[in-house]
Amino acid sequence: KIKIVTIGGGSSYTPELIEGLILRKDQLPIAELWLVDIEDGAEKMEIVGSMARRMIAAAKLDWQVHLSLDRKEALKDADYVTTQFRVGLLDARLKDEVIPLANGMLGQETNGAGGIFKAFRTVPVILAIIEDMRELCPNAWLVDFTNPAGMVTEAAINYGKWEKTVGLCNVPFGHITQACSVLAANENDLYFKFAGLNHFHWHRVWDRQGNERTAELIEKIYSPDQQEKSDEGLKNIHQIPFNFDQVKHLGLLPCGYHRYYYLQEPMLAHAIEEFDNYETRAEVVKKTEARLFELYKDVNLNYKPEELSQRGGAHYSDAACDLIASIQNNSGKLMVVSTRNHGAIADLPFDCVVEVTAAITSHGAEPLRWGALPPAARGMIQLMKAMEETVIEAAVSGDYGAALHAFTINPLIPAGDTAIKVLDQLLYAHKAYLPNF
Ligand code: NAD
Ligand code: G6P
Ligand code: MN
Repeated sequence: KIKIVTIGGGSSYTPELIEGLILRKDQLPIAELWLVDIEDGAEKMEIVGSMARRMIAAAKLDWQVHLSLDRKEALKDADYVTTQFRVGLLDARLKDEVIPLANGMLGQETNGAGGIFKAFRTVPVILAIIEDMRELCPNAWLVDFTNPAGMVTEAAINYGKWEKTVGLCNVPFGHITQACSVLAANENDLYFKFAGLNHFHWHRVWDRQGNERTAELIEKIYSPDQQEKSDEGLKNIHQIPFNFDQVKHLGLLPCGYHRYYYLQEPMLAHAIEEFDNYETRAEVVKKTEARLFELYKDVNLNYKPEELSQRGGAHYSDAACDLIASIQNNSGKLMVVSTRNHGAIADLPFDCVVEVTAAITSHGAEPLRWGALPPAARGMIQLMKAMEETVIEAAVSGDYGAALHAFTINPLIPAGDTAIKVLDQLLYAHKAYLPNF
């Protein structure tokens, strides 16, 4: 029997997770489920925790659901610890978006200056969670959904020394679904191989006969007459068309987030327009969250409402619950996860964390070898990896020079006085959550 602990239990994504666990009830011998939050999220956790209990009761399962504000109490003897917390909640995200945008650079949850600051706030917390885990559940798996998931996973493994950490994202799921629909195929009839970093990966696709279908997919998704119609299923990224010749030249399928880099100018212009005339994503999400919690309060609601699909992280439970079930049952299932490179991507350091297709067994993720990337991708990914490493270093040390270097390396932040101004403003705005600076 297993005990699962979810940190950030007050998240509106909790019903997503519960639904995923219920769907896999035959693969998961669950005894206890603990939701953990902090005082600021206590009310949300009460509401969504009651909802979780109703869902489990409706499925006629005897899982015990505990809600706690005491992380240590919850972690005792855990088998799986999943994280879905947001340090500073959506108000902090709003600052990550607005401060860079007001200074003419991209403000986004996981990219540019905002993404760097989300890492600065989150890394100290994940390392503190790991210290508690060392004491209370030394054999548990840490399944990280908390963003920026790639950097948080790297901090957990390389600084927290928690080897049993796996990071997750729902973006690959969206691209797999899209490819299946474009090729009118079932997921089981196609073979996917992803490689890169979290929110910065490419993929290739083959069919059962061994024929590579990548070029055909590039044609069917990214040719100018098709792009309008294509949908990656990501609600939070404005889908400006990629340049078809550029995608064809690389010969790999990009991920939705590559737009911030390949199409930096128009993506920035769009974000500034939304910010000036309308609202940023954090404000949209605040409203969606408020509506969701109104629905969750309904004592008759015992299933995940449709409204949750308006969030960018929809379907995350498929990744999280498949991962737990695959570790638990030593299934060898191929999944896209953030894990140690171990040579899978020849262009990146051996021990750094990458997001790749990996076989999931009871001893964790075994990445599939990808090989080397073409120069057009290699240059960018090496830069991005060095940026991530510098961000984590700064998050741990609180070194201002390291933080400025992370800003300087990041392609979405022009170097100079404005970068320093944005860095200083964000340090000030988030100072309550930056104990190391
Ligand atoms: P949210 O703002 O609802 O926060 C979730 C909960 O975390 C809140 O109840 C909050 O009180 C709690 N929390 C904050 N600090 C905490 C701490 N120190 N310890 C325990 N709990 C704490 O956030 P959300 O919109 O539900 O998103 C949750 C997280 O999941 C975010 O980090 C988000 O970026 C991430 N996310 C990841 C993906 C992915 O693909 N990996 C997709 C969607 C969301
Ligand atoms: C995605 C990503 C997440 C991201 C989220 C934002 O698809 O994979 O990592 O955090 O969407 O969604 P939101 O609804 O919060 O803007
Ligand atoms: Mn993600």
